[in-house]
Amino acid sequence: MMNKSAPIGVFDSGVGGLTVVREIMRQIPNEKIVYFGDTARVPYGSKSKETVTRYSRQIVRFLQTQEVKAIVVACNTASAYALDEIEKETDIPMIGVVKPGARVAAETTSNGKIGVIATEGTVNSHIYSRYIKEIKADANVVGKACPLFVPLVEEGLLQDPVTDEIAKRYLTELIDIGIDTLILGCTHYPLLRSTVGKIMGEGVTLVNPAYETARELKELLDREELLNEEEPKLGDNKYRFYVSDGAEKFKRFANSIIKYGILSAKIINIEEY
Ligand code: DGL
Repeated sequence: MMNKSAPIGVFDSGVGGLTVVREIMRQIPNEKIVYFGDTARVPYGSKSKETVTRYSRQIVRFLQTQEVKAIVVACNTASAYALDEIEKETDIPMIGVVKPGARVAAETTSNGKIGVIATEGTVNSHIYSRYIKEIKADANVVGKACPLFVPLVEEGLLQDPVTDEIAKRYLTELIDIGIDTLILGCTHYPLLRSTVGKIMGEGVTLVNPAYETARELKELLDREELLNEEEPKLGDNKYRFYVSDGAEKFKRFANSIIKYGILSAKIINIEEY
């Protein structure tokens, strides 16, 4: 039997998963969180399925040492490549970010034309298309890899002429197809929401899987009777952050997008797990 007051484990290849953490903090403030960002091995988006699965398995082992009661795979690439396999290897309830985003997109579209912007790995896995078609068989799902978006976000160029120019080049193809719904299929991309929204125009609905994932996590915890009933105090180890490299840089970035004050980020050797 899992302990209700145990933390939720959340992981990503780096800082992108913090957009999911931010939503969990907003929607289920009673929950403690242990976050792991694999900053030494980022990006996952250009690596093979085998490598991403091995990395994800190591992270799950680390999160198990933190006695988490549920795990959120807050990385689209790891959700696409590894989730099916790693969730079978433990009793801890696990959710990824792809299914929630796919479901909302399928429910949102009117003309059936859905765009997915993501890493190369996620686009090539066609996982969004697979899940969307389970709900809406006649949907036309078009994926577009946007590899330069991740470094632009990490450099803090969230609203910048350079980002506008690159985004236009990536997105023109999707505008020409006439999509009415666009999934931000990489955990870094919600931070570029205003740039992407400006280019796509008002007729296109942007889907942020982070929001839906936090909602589904709350439903899952409720179903399993695992919701924490009491709000822990902020200092009470409520939010703990671990990375595999560059703790100071991570902390600066995290503090710029999460307003709760990241007290510390510790480095661990993930290869030991
Ligand atoms: N967090 C990854 C994702 O959501 C993007 C960064 C990476 O390539 O590792 O796919």
